[in-house]
Amino acid sequence: MNKICVLTSGGDAPGMNAAIRAVVRSGNYYNFEVVGVERGYEGLMSGQFIPLGPLEVGNIIHQGGTFLRSARSEAFKTKAGQQRALEVLRKNSIQGIVVIGGDGSFKGAKALSDLGVSTIGIPGTIDNDLAYTEFSLGFDTACNTILDAINKLRDTMESHERVLILQVMGRNCGDLALYSGLAGGAQAILCPEVPISTKKLVDIIIKGRDFGRRSFLMVVAEGFSTAEQIKAQIKEVGEFSVRTVVLGHTQRGGSPSGFDRRLGTQFGAHAVRLLKNNKTNRIVGIKENKIFDIDIKEGLSQKKIFNSELYEIAMM
Ligand code: ADP
Ligand code: F6P
Repeated sequence: MNKICVLTSGGDAPGMNAAIRAVVRSGNYYNFEVVGVERGYEGLMSGQFIPLGPLEVGNIIHQGGTFLRSARSEAFKTKAGQQRALEVLRKNSIQGIVVIGGDGSFKGAKALSDLGVSTIGIPGTIDNDLAYTEFSLGFDTACNTILDAINKLRDTMESHERVLILQVMGRNCGDLALYSGLAGGAQAILCPEVPISTKKLVDIIIKGRDFGRRSFLMVVAEGFSTAEQIKAQIKEVGEFSVRTVVLGHTQRGGSPSGFDRRLGTQFGAHAVRLLKNNKTNRIVGIKENKIFDIDIKEGLSQKKIFNSELYEIAMM
């Protein structure tokens, strides 16, 4: 193998640039030619390649987003689209590919692997919804972004003795709400994995008031409900001063944390080492602070286990 490419796909995540940088630097270390694919699988099918060397990836480790840009492509979900990508890779003498993205992107990576392309996946999604790895790129940075918002919101909620309902991302996974809510000292955390009644939320406010608490922070994952719906439900039960904030795509941007920069660098280096050793159809991850890799299908088949112990502590 002497020429590989790297692409970013699906929702972007802070740390993706650190991973791209590591793929290039590790690839060059092993004397691979490395090219970047712009705009995910769309760009792969249309041959949007850019040569990448130390110069092109200098000064990007601290940048959020992905300088290769990302795209969602329905065409690549088809056999014809995947065949098109294979032809483009062959025409450009590219033998290996590193895909940085979430579960959807990994399904695309498996399709390429099945067609005989050496393929390695790096987990990049702020939701942290990939069960096989403890952390995906972007999750730590997004938690810090949420925490920064919580710190600011707590000030004004306390000044006005209000209830603040903060809606965070996480379509099917409550990790962003759980980890940032715990770190932010939230009085209630609402995750899709754990049902909680409006009565329980109101009880939390009333009991808190009884011992003198004047303001309340509730963090809700978008996969559970919306901040406005929770506000309406609470206000139906009692006269509370409630404000809502939806952080939205703020969580997807920003300079990656040190953790995400290190994780992206380690993931990128591990991915290239796998290609050098002619491995394919693997996705890299981290478990108990160790970088590892697993078969794509096996990794994607694992079911995410919600951290109930952390949730219990956070709700005490
Ligand atoms: P994420 O990777 O963050 O989960 P998506 O689910 O949007 O993001 O997937 C990103 C891209 O991966 C899609 O736009 C599509 O090009 C490709 N993809 C998703 N699912 C499949 C699939 N089952 N087979 C082939 N490609 C897929
Ligand atoms: O990457 C995951 C995610 O940020 C989800 O948490 C969110 O619901 C979704 O992507 C938003 O997708 P888009 O960027 O396409 O609006």
